[in-house]
Amino acid sequence: MTQSPPSETPPEVPIIIAGLVNAFGPHKVHDGLSLTVRRGEILGVVGGSGTGKSVLMRSIIGLQHPQAGQITVLGHGMAGGDDEEQAQPQIGEGAGAIGGADLRSRWGVLFQGGALFSTLTVAENIEVPLKEFYPALSPALAREIAGLKVALSGLPPETCDKYPSELSGGMKKRAALARALALDPELLFLDEPTAGLDPIAAAAFDHLIRELTDTLGLTVFLITHDLDTLHAICDRVAVLADGGVIAIGTIPELLASDHPWIQTYFNGPRGRAAMDNYGASGHGAREHGAREHGVSGFGASGHGASGA
Ligand SMILES: Nc1ncnc2c1ncn2[C@@H]1O[C@H](COP(=O)(O)OP(=O)(O)OP(=O)(O)O)[C@@H](O)[C@H]1O
Ligand SMILES: [Mg+2]
Repeated sequence: MTQSPPSETPPEVPIIIAGLVNAFGPHKVHDGLSLTVRRGEILGVVGGSGTGKSVLMRSIIGLQHPQAGQITVLGHGMAGGDDEEQAQPQIGEGAGAIGGADLRSRWGVLFQGGALFSTLTVAENIEVPLKEFYPALSPALAREIAGLKVALSGLPPETCDKYPSELSGGMKKRAALARALALDPELLFLDEPTAGLDPIAAAAFDHLIRELTDTLGLTVFLITHDLDTLHAICDRVAVLADGGVIAIGTIPELLASDHPWIQTYFNGPRGRAAMDNYGASGHGAREHGAREHGVSGFGASGHGASGA
């Protein structure tokens, strides 16, 4: 496996997974799963509960050590290759992780369930990765960067001093997103970011993700059950079932599959309702302005942590 090119010339395919096998005891979750994520896209990842979406995400970021297969992230071998990299824990996770510290600073993660530190304010939460990766950063600058990330995530400035328990579900998601963006990542991993949000908040969050992706040039791995999200903002969708990716493509391409799960999911009553809202053309965000509700606060700040 080859090493990465310099970060100024990121690979066109930042995530490559080949022949991935993950098992817990006799239970094989992934059995030869292969998948690529293209630079600049929002890849939606769907599949029934327990098909291994979260385990796949954890494998990509080095928190889950697979039994077999190769995973290459930004040109670095995460698993299975000769150049597999070892490092310390991931933000919000305790276990030993794979993937050098430098590499870990190039992605941001929003875990299923959010996982903000409840005893820290929003600003302090965002400062955790900043202090980890840039220990010499002055408290004033760290605070300023945290403020920029809060604005970038569409939250009012006073949110900085609030504790997670003082925020609504939608605000918590945005705060967790702000923390995921703390280090100006190239890759963003989102595990069910709109779960539990009301439709208006979910639509606004979708819009925010699309806008950030286009503005900051992110590549996004987005696990979701939300059909509206898939239609509104995803460039392609990967369907997990039977231990692997059974189909990947735009929604119209997936609709051509006769796999029963795909047909039930996209052509069931909810799938049809979402399609009626967005048209069957797929990736409706640009054409249809996402789910019509915009995002407040976006664009007020820059892309602050560069050079921090
Ligand atoms: N640490 C673990 N130990 C044992 N089994 C695990 C572990 N992590 C995940 N699993 C199992 O792996 C399977 C896939 O789990 P995963 O969390 O990836 O599902 P998922 O597709 O994300 O589901 P959901 O849509 O409900 O979030 C499940 O059967 C789960 O019980
Ligand atoms: Mg999951």
